[in-house]
Amino acid sequence: MSLPKAELHLHIEGTLEPELAFELAARNGVTLPYADTDALREAYRFEDLQSFLDLYYELMAVLRTEQDFADLADAYLARAAAQGVRHAEIFFDPQAHTKRGLEIGTVVEGLWRALGRSEETHGVSTRLIMCFLRDDSAESALATLRAAEPYLDRITGVGLDSAEVGHPPVKFREVYERAAALGLRRVAHAGEEGPPEYITEALDVLGVERVDHGLRCLEDPALVERLVRERVPLTLCPLSNVRLRAVDTLAGHPLPAMLDAGLLCTVNSDDPAYFGGYAGDNFDAVRDTLGLGEDRLRELARNSFLASFLEDDEERRAR
Ligand code: HPA
Ligand code: ZN
Repeated sequence: MSLPKAELHLHIEGTLEPELAFELAARNGVTLPYADTDALREAYRFEDLQSFLDLYYELMAVLRTEQDFADLADAYLARAAAQGVRHAEIFFDPQAHTKRGLEIGTVVEGLWRALGRSEETHGVSTRLIMCFLRDDSAESALATLRAAEPYLDRITGVGLDSAEVGHPPVKFREVYERAAALGLRRVAHAGEEGPPEYITEALDVLGVERVDHGLRCLEDPALVERLVRERVPLTLCPLSNVRLRAVDTLAGHPLPAMLDAGLLCTVNSDDPAYFGGYAGDNFDAVRDTLGLGEDRLRELARNSFLASFLEDDEERRAR
C-alpha cells in the first residue's frame, strides 16, 4: 500500500535480503552455510524471537565495509519508498558488529552514505537510532555509547533490542540516563515476549517516549489506560508477530481492539527480509486480514508521523 507513512520500527540488519547476503558474501570472501538463496529462505521458519535472532546475527557476517552498510541501507530505502514510506527511523545494532571486530565508525559512516542523501535519492527522510543488545551487559552498552560519541551528530536516539525475557529495562538505567544527558531520544523494545511490567519499567526507569511492540500491555488494563492517557505510541509489527509467534494468527492480531481502546498504534515491518514484508505489505496484511477500513488505515498513517521524531525536531529547530 502506497499511503504516505513513516516507518518507526525497522532494524536495518533485518532488511538483508538473501540475494544481497550472497552478493556481499562473494564480495567479502565469506562462506555462508547455505547452498543458495532458496536454501537460506528455507531457514526462515522461526519458533520464537531467539530462533530468529540466531539467524539474524549469523548472516551479519557478510557485512564488513562501509560500502556494505551503504548498499544495505540503499536497498531498504528504495523498497520502502516504493511502498509509500516518506520517513524512516532506522535501528542499528552496533554491538553485533563491534563484537565481530568492526569499528562503530564503519557502521555509522556506511549507513550515513545512504541516509545522508536519502531525501534526494529516495524521497525518504531518515533518523538513526542506536540499539543496545539487552542480552549483553550494561557495561558493554555504556562502552558502546562512549564509542558512539564522535558520531552523535548522525544519531537521533537510543533503543533496546535482542532477547527480551530475563533482561528487564532497569538493567540499562545508567546508559539511558547518559543518553538523555547527551540529548538523545529514547525508545525501547518492551512487551514483545517480555511481561507488561517491562513496558512500565521502560517508561518509568528509562524515560522512553515510544514503546517498540508493547503488545503485552493488553494483559494489564491499568497499563493500557495509562498508555492511552499519556498518548504513548506503540510501534506494532503485525507480520513479525506472526512469524515470531507473539500471536497465533494474523487474523487474531489485537490491532483492531488496540485502536478501539484508543492506543496510539503504528504499523511497521521490524525485519522485513525475514518476516515476509515491508511497511506497505504490513498495511496490506492488516487491511486484508483484519478488515481495517480506510479511516483506520489513514489513522495508522497519521499516527506514524505523529509518533515520529520529525515534527519535534522541526519545532526545536524553529525555536
Ligand atoms: N525484537 C527484539 N530484537 C530484535 C528484533 C525484534 O523483533 N529484531 C531485531 N532485533
Ligand atoms: Zn524490533
